Amino acid sequence: MGGALWVVNILALYFAVCSQDFSLALPYKAASLGNWLVTEGWMNLSRFDGIPNNDLLDGAKVQIMSIKLQKYLSADNSGGSDIVANCDSASDWETFRLWRINESTFNLRVFNKQFMGLENQGEGTKVVAVAKSPGNSETFQIVRKENDRTRIRLKAPNGQFLQVNCDTLVTADYGGSGWEDDNPSIFRMTIDIPLRGEYQITNGYGPDKAPQVMQDHWNTYVTERDFSFMSKNGLDAVRIPVGWWIAHDPTPPTPFVGGSSNALDNAFTWAQKHGMKVIIDLHGVQGSQNGNDHSGARDGYQEWGDSYIPDTVAVIEFLARRYANNPALAAIELINEPMAPGVSLDTLKRYYTLGYNAVRKYTSDAYVILSNRLGKADPKELLSFASSLNHVVIDVHYYNLFWDHFDNMTVQQNINFVYNDRASQLRTITTSSALSFVGEWTAEWKVRGASKQAYQRFAKAQLEVYGNATFGWAYWAYKCALNHWSLQWMIENGYINLLAS
Ligand SMILES: *[C@@H]1O[C@H](CO)[C@@H](O)[C@H](O)[C@H]1NC(C)=O
Ligand SMILES: *[C@@H]1O[C@H](CO)[C@@H](O)[C@H](O)[C@H]1NC(C)=O
Ligand SMILES: *[C@@H]1O[C@H](CO)[C@@H](O)[C@H](O)[C@H]1NC(C)=O
Ligand SMILES: *[C@@H]1O[C@H](CO)[C@@H](O)[C@H](O)[C@H]1NC(C)=O
Repeated sequence: MGGALWVVNILALYFAVCSQDFSLALPYKAASLGNWLVTEGWMNLSRFDGIPNNDLLDGAKVQIMSIKLQKYLSADNSGGSDIVANCDSASDWETFRLWRINESTFNLRVFNKQFMGLENQGEGTKVVAVAKSPGNSETFQIVRKENDRTRIRLKAPNGQFLQVNCDTLVTADYGGSGWEDDNPSIFRMTIDIPLRGEYQITNGYGPDKAPQVMQDHWNTYVTERDFSFMSKNGLDAVRIPVGWWIAHDPTPPTPFVGGSSNALDNAFTWAQKHGMKVIIDLHGVQGSQNGNDHSGARDGYQEWGDSYIPDTVAVIEFLARRYANNPALAAIELINEPMAPGVSLDTLKRYYTLGYNAVRKYTSDAYVILSNRLGKADPKELLSFASSLNHVVIDVHYYNLFWDHFDNMTVQQNINFVYNDRASQLRTITTSSALSFVGEWTAEWKVRGASKQAYQRFAKAQLEVYGNATFGWAYWAYKCALNHWSLQWMIENGYINLLAS
């Protein structure tokens, strides 16, 4: 009996120590290592400089106007039938999303997701948009004029150029040359907001160059010195975005390249050495949960849903298995920013249940983070679901950006918004069901030309309010070419001081 009691006591002590290990440091003050293992081009555009034709990356939305007819190419009925040239202005039906084969060769995807190609599996010359997946007859070369790169010709797989002689018929049967305005094979191409994520950079550099480019980036963008800097300056955790391809290391499907799990291993080693914790954040899933380039999307379509759940759970299982016993692990975030209504609440809960179970197979202590949906969704929609789970966290992202409501706000209005609206929003998700986490925020805003003191006040207000989140907060990001988005820069330049109380 004494022996049994002893065992019980040891077990109780063991659990007390373990759970203490996880809760003592709460709430966390973290920085997101954005643009490290998941590329976000806007955070450092010059990384794309070495890519030839780097405005024609995957997902670039192009519009193509016949100069002779002054009409845009258009997928009739938004796709599934002919390509015509009958439109005076360009919108959805006149927009093609590129899939890059190499610097000059592409597939063009229309609004309803078919690919532009030659009719009869490439036997005919009429240009149509019927193929659901691209093959040789959907592969075109974009030939740009040397000193005017918006002037193009499109070479079809039959070796002929596309031409437009009337607005209802586009054919691939022009064999001539020349760039003059009345040439029926000449078009003007405009490019709308290119995507610049991990898919675009790896496919842009291509299989020969991408592995070295990415390896160099991973080795230099974040090093042990950064963990030392963070821990000395009052941060006690990092949130690390990763993409689904990490689970396929060292040979992920093309164009992704291997090596990101080694980099993540290093982060764990450095975190442990400098007394910090790691929050792993599955930022990009196959199919894309929000259509953004930072989800690893190829062309911006949001397609993640029930059919992708098993693969996504397998990624979580990979991460949980690899890091569950690492003392630096604080939490695993199952998916970043799923977007409503494309991701339905039912699908998300099905995934969260399976993802949570996958983590719990390996650890009962690590927190599981559930990201609220972006878009039109009730911020409280996960609370009753979360109350049936243990050690879970609701993640919300608070930016005074991305909404025209903030367009004309003054410094003081922004600060009041934080103290009033944000504080009250945070209260609604800070309940006994789950811990709360402001997993992304920044001291950048829409105020132009604000003084250093204004930035300091804005940052301080957010630190005060988000300091009430029970799991903590994470600044977006640790490093960024745009100064106010870089917590490192903000600390080094005296805008933010986490050591002053
Ligand atoms: C941005 O990328 C360039 C080119 O890869 C690199 O030299 C530079 O250090 C990077 N800047 C930052 C802030 O990381
Ligand atoms: C691009 O791909 C096409 C089709 O596979 C090939 O014919 C062409 O030579 C390639 N071009 C370059 C620059 O690699
Ligand atoms: C902001 O101000 C500009 C210029 O006065 C105005 O055109 C715009 O509608 C305003 N935006 C909002 C959201 O109020
Ligand atoms: C933090 O929460 C406490 C308790 O709800 C509240 O009294 C306080 O005003 C909050 N602080 C901020 C800055 O929101």
